[in-house]
Amino acid sequence: MSAPLVEVEGLAVRFPVHSRGLFRRRVGQIHAVDGVDLRLERGETVGLVGESGSGKTTLGRAILRAVPVSEGRIRFHLEEGEVDVLALAGERLRRFRRHMQLVFQDPYASLDPRMTVRDIIAEPLEALGLAASRAEVDERVREIAQRCRINVEYLRRFPHAFSGGQRQRIGIARALVCNPEFLVLDEPVSALDVSIQADILNLLMDLQDSFGTTYLFITHDLAVVGQIARRVAVMYLGRIVELAPTEELFQRPLHPYTRALFSAIPSLEPGRSERLVLAGEVPDPAHPPSGCRFHTRCPFARPRCREEPPELRALAPDHLVACHFAEELAP
Ligand SMILES: Nc1ncnc2c1ncn2[C@@H]1O[C@H](COP(=O)(O)OP(=O)(O)OP(=O)(O)O)[C@@H](O)[C@H]1O
Ligand code: SF4
Ligand SMILES: [Mg+2]
Repeated sequence: MSAPLVEVEGLAVRFPVHSRGLFRRRVGQIHAVDGVDLRLERGETVGLVGESGSGKTTLGRAILRAVPVSEGRIRFHLEEGEVDVLALAGERLRRFRRHMQLVFQDPYASLDPRMTVRDIIAEPLEALGLAASRAEVDERVREIAQRCRINVEYLRRFPHAFSGGQRQRIGIARALVCNPEFLVLDEPVSALDVSIQADILNLLMDLQDSFGTTYLFITHDLAVVGQIARRVAVMYLGRIVELAPTEELFQRPLHPYTRALFSAIPSLEPGRSERLVLAGEVPDPAHPPSGCRFHTRCPFARPRCREEPPELRALAPDHLVACHFAEELAP
């Protein structure tokens, strides 16, 4: 196994739930991420899939310290040494941000319409004081723009002049301008036309080849994850229920939830983008089911499933599944 870049252990994010009305009281909490272990190797892409509300965005943002973490551990193994990311605060956390960046879903909402493309891309460099002069910033912006296939003639324009695909290139250039080791890409192609999606995925793969960046790629689209990810993690109600190399997961999904996800998709042709929707209601994340969280919808549930939460365990060396009966149920 190659060297890990990011190691996440027992990560939990809980959001408070307040009552409505004049006197808002705290009445409970949402377990958006609930005990996630995940290890990302240098230069790989891990896809993160699951239904809406399963906690994908929250997990990605928690690793970037963009939402408060309730519990757990996040470590980065950088060339200069190991960093305990949850121990960082203030100026040290701000400076660490050059190592990890986010690419947003919506290229229309995420770029400031009053800034030129040059200023949008330059902002992280300038904010972190990573360039000595304006000339150095310009040089770096031109270089990364070219790598992201943005016409440098356009750097003085404003984002409204660009199409969705071009805007997403700007978002990617901005995320990469500081040379981060790690990117969280939160549904980066979901808002784009199918014809543009492949361009952006190819660009991301080329950039990864050049820079060796590690990607956590969040998507609800299994066809997209099949194209870009080396491994895939499947989330359900805040937990990872299955993690395997992409091809292995597609050929032999073992968790009943993953199997349901695959059978819910009529076609895996690239470009068919459909929300993952399964039979049965998603339980309220403020009151998750006991034991295995999938037991209320699982066709194979038995009494033990209601009582005991299944551990994420290895059925093959790199194929992890959180189901008590995975061996028996394997198709
Ligand atoms: N800031 C917040 N405050 C309160 N609850 C939140 C907050 N952000 C997310 N949640 C809740 O946490 C749970 C996980 O949400 P999250 O956005 O991480 O899911 P997701 O898998 O990214 O969904 P989608 O596919 O719709 O983007 C949901 O129940 C959501 O309502
Ligand atoms: S542990 Fe039980 S409820 Fe959960 S997925 Fe396995 S069989 Fe279904
Ligand atoms: Mg999301």
